[in-house]
Amino acid sequence: MSLSQYGPIAGLVGQAYDALASMSTTRLVLTLLINIPLLSIAFNVIYQLLPKDKSLPPVVWHWFPWFGSAAAYGEDPIKFFFDCKEKYGNVFTFVLLGRRVTAALTPAGNNFILGGKHTVFSAEDAYTHLTTPVFGKDVVYDCPNELLMEQKKFVKFGLSTDNLRQYVGMIEQEVLQFMKDDASFKIFQMNDINEWGSFDVLKAISELTILTASRTLQGKEVRANITKEYAEVYSDLDGGFTPLHFMFPNLPLESYRKRDAAHKKISDFYVSIIEKRRANPGQEEEHDMIAALMNQKYRVGRPLQDHEIAHIMIALLMAGQHTSSASGSWSLLHIADRPDIADALYEEQVKHFRQSDGTWRTPEFEELRDLPVLDSVIRETLRIHPPIHSIMRAVREDVVVPPTLAAPSEDGRYVIPKGHVVVSSAAISQVDPMLWKNANAWDPTRWSDPEGVAAQAYKQYDDAEGAKVDFGFGLVSKGTESPYQPFGAGRHRCIGEQFAYLQLGTIISTFVRQIEMRLPETGMPAPNYHTMITLPKAPRNILYRRRNFD
Ligand code: HEM
Repeated sequence: MSLSQYGPIAGLVGQAYDALASMSTTRLVLTLLINIPLLSIAFNVIYQLLPKDKSLPPVVWHWFPWFGSAAAYGEDPIKFFFDCKEKYGNVFTFVLLGRRVTAALTPAGNNFILGGKHTVFSAEDAYTHLTTPVFGKDVVYDCPNELLMEQKKFVKFGLSTDNLRQYVGMIEQEVLQFMKDDASFKIFQMNDINEWGSFDVLKAISELTILTASRTLQGKEVRANITKEYAEVYSDLDGGFTPLHFMFPNLPLESYRKRDAAHKKISDFYVSIIEKRRANPGQEEEHDMIAALMNQKYRVGRPLQDHEIAHIMIALLMAGQHTSSASGSWSLLHIADRPDIADALYEEQVKHFRQSDGTWRTPEFEELRDLPVLDSVIRETLRIHPPIHSIMRAVREDVVVPPTLAAPSEDGRYVIPKGHVVVSSAAISQVDPMLWKNANAWDPTRWSDPEGVAAQAYKQYDDAEGAKVDFGFGLVSKGTESPYQPFGAGRHRCIGEQFAYLQLGTIISTFVRQIEMRLPETGMPAPNYHTMITLPKAPRNILYRRRNFD
């Protein structure tokens, strides 16, 4: 396109040049300093008004260059995505702090991105700058994708049914002990008081998640070391896993220095556990992940090195901590909000696990997955509150958008250029009113209708008899086309799903057996999207009363 097509614009540029050329240096510098931001906004606006290459997805309108849609996306990505879907369709590009991010919404969008080739849609390119300083070298997104697939296979080995069976009783004990000890359960601890107490649900469930994960997966040495000092180091590491660190991997700030120091401390701690275990073989058999990883070899025949085991352990700690504590917190908040569902959960527990002498029996692992009310409470919570709202991949080569996903442009197709980041969002397809009845209502009963949308979506996601793929870590349901995919789909699908259900199921059952719960007047908290994982905003207290008071 030639400049002459923009005659008036070229004229304005010429006049501006003449004006600047006639100024003194000081005045010129001052004028530029004041006017550059205004000019860049003006140029950004003009640029967006110019005719565009029709094969590119539409770009979301934004006033500020570089900053783009960061405020709207950062504040409420769900509202932002639904608004953009209405204006621009299923596929659109937005500017996010200098990056071009293209969203592909609906189940077809999920399938396009999560079912696409990993050589085109790269998770490691999208995430490594955030994860490698936290997890460490040579694992997850700091190694070729094929190695990650092998690492996932090793972890799955550690999550064997045999190991999971051992965990139910351990988790139950941790929860009961916590309720006996924690200051926010003071009223519970006083047997003979029929009063309501209150606890901050996110605080309680976060602590329980780390206690139960360390008792089971992380191993007895980690559990024994969950001290105040450990909590501080963990918190420093966690402080390096934020949207700020995702957007800017290396700023000269305290949180970055603390992140790096904490990584080293925790990594050294795991390595010391491994060395001690190697030096004392033949001790009592452990059912934790360190034991499982110490026995694994890559396909080429080499065993995992100590630092790789340590870094995988950190990755698992980070992958499971906020996802499970967010899901557990939202589950309890909704249970507190719906006494009818709480009663149904309690009755289910009584029916299966209350013994004739009035005491409770610990469920078997298999029994936990066979409790329809509990199962549907967790599924429904993960539908409305999937902890990860945006799954990202970096595009390594130009990729054509299938016409089933976005209406073709004039020349017949959209192309997402190499260098864009793409986003799929189960948080949208899971509450899309075009797909779900009463999409935003938390209603666990939707999962018990065998003909309903929920059952169909679940079958697509987790079909025991359906299409299975092996990406290198065992057969998994394809699941990429389902509107319901809280654990992701395709080759990067979560391997912690069974563990998460076990952990959440045991925590929720134990709470429901022991206490009645209600929401205070402040009601259901709003979601906080400023963190990597969608958590309930404060205040997020739950009122409770001991159940067995006569
Ligand atoms: C991957 C969700 C718990 C380990 C994922 C992904 C999602 C997810 C959405 C896909 C990410 C992507 O495609 O970019 C959840 C939820 C959880 C949970 C909702 C709990 C409610 C856990 C736990 C563990 C774990 C407890 C470990 C024990 C992993 C691993 C991956 C993964 C290793 C694979 C990453 C990859 O292949 O790139 N999870 N997760 N997750 N998750 Fe989970």
